[in-house]
Amino acid sequence: MEDLTLVIHFLIYGALPYIVMAVLFVGSIGRFILAPYTWKSQSSQILDRHEIMWGANLFHIGVIFLFCGHCAGLFTPPEVLDAFGLTPPIHQMVEIFTGGFFAILALIGIGMLIARRLGNPRVRISSRSSDFLVLALILLVLALGICCIINAYFTDRSGKDIVIFGEWVRGLFTFNPSAWTLMLDVPIWQKLHIFVGLLIFLVVPFTRLIHIWSGYLSPLYLIRPPQIMRINQKPMK
Ligand code: HEM
Repeated sequence: MEDLTLVIHFLIYGALPYIVMAVLFVGSIGRFILAPYTWKSQSSQILDRHEIMWGANLFHIGVIFLFCGHCAGLFTPPEVLDAFGLTPPIHQMVEIFTGGFFAILALIGIGMLIARRLGNPRVRISSRSSDFLVLALILLVLALGICCIINAYFTDRSGKDIVIFGEWVRGLFTFNPSAWTLMLDVPIWQKLHIFVGLLIFLVVPFTRLIHIWSGYLSPLYLIRPPQIMRINQKPMK
């Protein structure tokens, strides 16, 4: 293999994941310290609440299930999956059909959110370029994810590639210096998908995606002490 190909693979699948993790954690904590009141989604619901409801709900349901699927699929060793009867070919088919279902929900949702942001003048005018960047990256990563499963369905359903992706991710977390070499021979769709996926995590601290963190903590609202609201009793002049 050419030297340049090796260098590009090392940079994207060997170095970039660590850069992303460092920027994600240091950047998110830094933003919390420097600008705590921007640690939110900057919702535009107030400008229009009807159009956003369906798009945001479909997108979030899709993406939350995809996130859980990615974590379970990539971090569980194949021996454990085997013990539950999920051999690589079965794992691949489960991933194609459940992942495909939630990918389509998320894709419809993001399509509606993009149409709203571009089509509603009030929302468009109050948008920043980072809002469009985030939407474009998410659309691209979803489209590439769907290309991955279509490609897997028609070319190789043995599940050997998803075993490789798991080994790569676990290799990164166990600091295996040659983990990146596992990515040399996987299909191009997966290479592109993972690259764009990493870029999404890279921009989290600098965009409205920062609300991923506050979203995890939002169930605490259910158990928080009641807020005391006082009305100013001074008579108006
Ligand atoms: C670092 C980040 C990411 C990594 C390492 C990653 C990895 C993967 C892998 C290995 C697959 C399986 C491909 C195959 O079947 O061969 C996949 C599929 C997919 N990914 Fe990702 N991904 C990442 C981020 C994302 C993000 C941010 C989204 C959506 C917002 C996403 C959406 C999808 C979809 C829709 C599929 C196809 C359905 C499925 O397998 O669940 N991915 N991804």
